[in-house]
Amino acid sequence: MKLRWGVRARVMLAAILPMLVLAVVLTVSYTSSRLADFHNELEARGKAVARQLAAASEFPVFSGNHRSLQQLAGGAMAEEDVAGLRIVDRSGRTLASAGILDPLLMPPDGPLAPAPWVERRGATLRIVEPIRPRPLDLDADPTAFTVAAGTQASAPPLGSVVLDFSLDRLYARRTELLWQSASIGLLVLLGSLVLASHLSKGVSRPIRRVADIVLEIGAGEMHRRVEPLGGGSLQRLAEGVNEMARRLADAREDMAREIEQATAELRTRKNEAERANLAKSRFLAAASHDLRQPMHALGLFIAELQQYQLPQPTRGLVRQIAASADAMEKLLDSLLDISRLDAGVLRPTLRVFALRPMLTRIVAAHEPAAAERGLRLGLRASEVWVRSDPLLLERIVSNLISNALRYTREGGVLLACRRQGDGLVRIEVRDSGTGIPLERQEVIFQEFVQLDNAERSRDKGLGLGLAIVKRLAELLDHRLTLRSAPGRGSVFAIALPRTEPLDAGEAAPEPRPPGDLGGVRIAVVDDDPLVCAGTASLLASWGCEVEAAASSAALFERIANADWRPALVISDLRLQGPLDGLDVVRELRERLAEPTLPAVLITGDTGADMLALTRDSGIPVLHKPVRPARLRALINRQLEYAAGEDDDA
Ligand SMILES: Nc1ncnc2c1ncn2[C@@H]1O[C@H](COP(=O)(O)OP(=O)(O)OP(=O)(O)O)[C@@H](O)[C@H]1O
Ligand SMILES: [Mg+2]
Repeated sequence: MKLRWGVRARVMLAAILPMLVLAVVLTVSYTSSRLADFHNELEARGKAVARQLAAASEFPVFSGNHRSLQQLAGGAMAEEDVAGLRIVDRSGRTLASAGILDPLLMPPDGPLAPAPWVERRGATLRIVEPIRPRPLDLDADPTAFTVAAGTQASAPPLGSVVLDFSLDRLYARRTELLWQSASIGLLVLLGSLVLASHLSKGVSRPIRRVADIVLEIGAGEMHRRVEPLGGGSLQRLAEGVNEMARRLADAREDMAREIEQATAELRTRKNEAERANLAKSRFLAAASHDLRQPMHALGLFIAELQQYQLPQPTRGLVRQIAASADAMEKLLDSLLDISRLDAGVLRPTLRVFALRPMLTRIVAAHEPAAAERGLRLGLRASEVWVRSDPLLLERIVSNLISNALRYTREGGVLLACRRQGDGLVRIEVRDSGTGIPLERQEVIFQEFVQLDNAERSRDKGLGLGLAIVKRLAELLDHRLTLRSAPGRGSVFAIALPRTEPLDAGEAAPEPRPPGDLGGVRIAVVDDDPLVCAGTASLLASWGCEVEAAASSAALFERIANADWRPALVISDLRLQGPLDGLDVVRELRERLAEPTLPAVLITGDTGADMLALTRDSGIPVLHKPVRPARLRALINRQLEYAAGEDDDA
């Protein structure tokens, strides 16, 4: 395992370890040399005592003077450290003894030692000293009995002195010495610990300080700096850290300045873009409003004109004028749809309804176009009920059918609907047309994308149809899919939630043949006399009984005076005077005590405020220029709903 030591611990270890080793070595060598000295000294003293005793015992042993020997033994016991002694003769017999001899050492009554010897066991040092006769100098003085110095080494010993010397003092000394050395060692250790700690602090404190400052700088306190750390590497470290912090702070300031500049620039650009977008929306709204008014009147007049018996050349001309006006209306419609969908002001009104009647109507509406192109247009629809916004769904399917017809040269187009397993209904538009390559199947849903109109001929549309379809499908939360291959036709499909059929009352056959407006009473309010007259004469040409008024007041007056109740009211949304179209409808419903009186609002306004206002009212709005066919379809539908509600009631 690798130890993870800090600077301080390392410095401490480096300082203490040699001291510790030195202390141990010194203590051991000092103690052992002192003990050896003491031991030698003790042994020398023991030997000296034994030698003296042996010398003094020579004559009493020789003369057999036991008492004197015993006295000598007793006297020797007074010597320090003597534990016991015995004087034995040549045959090993004890002549005198004192103290206690160690019984475990070689017995003193064994064979006589020819030379002095020393043996040690435990705390006892045994010294055996032979007693040797000394030569007599008989010549010197016959009266003085002097003994010559020295012993006769060659003469056999007379006996020996066995002396047990106690080493207890030596051991006591050793313990004392050990304690002393241990204390000194401990003191040295403590001293070196204090010193090392002091030293390590000197090294680790500045490093820790630098580390703390680096952490603070890392946490964003760019103004922090390391104060001078003395000198050498530590000072270089401090300077390096300070320099790094300065550069970091500079870099951060630069970056912040750049971000601020970029943000300001972006904000300006965004504001500019928003202003431009707003200006564009305003321009679009204003332009479409101004365009719608004359287009609307034009449409109405053309429709009326077509109902007269005209000479052949004029008929052709009127047809061409109608076609041109129709194309222009379609373009205006598409632009308006896109801008309304983008502005998010269109809200779906979900209802439960039977799908087949709607699909039948769509097919019927496209039959003329199919016939014109020599294509078959078929319908295969099962009896299913769905939940969706019928108007918006109809726009989706119509768009897909007109595309299918437009991009198919031969063969046909089939509109089909069938149940899916997961509670959904799938509406499919199949064609045998040109098909769409896989890599283009996504882009065709973008605005103004057309695969086959490089010259951007307006006769071939704008490239907005599928963009509108996609936005509508998203708005309704219906999944839109496409399967296609070049030369093998296309299948556009939309999946929507299936529901249980409503009760029979709701599905009852309509009392009035659909599309027949003969005798239907309609009130029209429009302050533009041209539009008012145009609408009135168009409605009249469909067989309606029309009451047209240029203001709300005029309409209320006529209703009050005559015994005439409208079945439906059509009003321009923006009227001169205090009331707008919505107010007129509400007031009329109140005066006639008919809160569900069918109504249609017509407007050239595309402003979000106006759209939001009408959306909440639940009254359908047609945008100018209103195509006669669309107006007729809407009148029919409103009357159908009203009839349905009456039946329910
Ligand atoms: N059923 C189809 N078969 C083959 N190509 C198709 C089909 N439907 C659409 N496309 C291709 O996708 C393009 C975009 O279609 P979209 O409906 O958006 O515009 P458009 O039909 O050209 O014009 P607009 O619908 O605005 O009158 C078309 O121009 C056509 O190239
Ligand atoms: Mg199209």
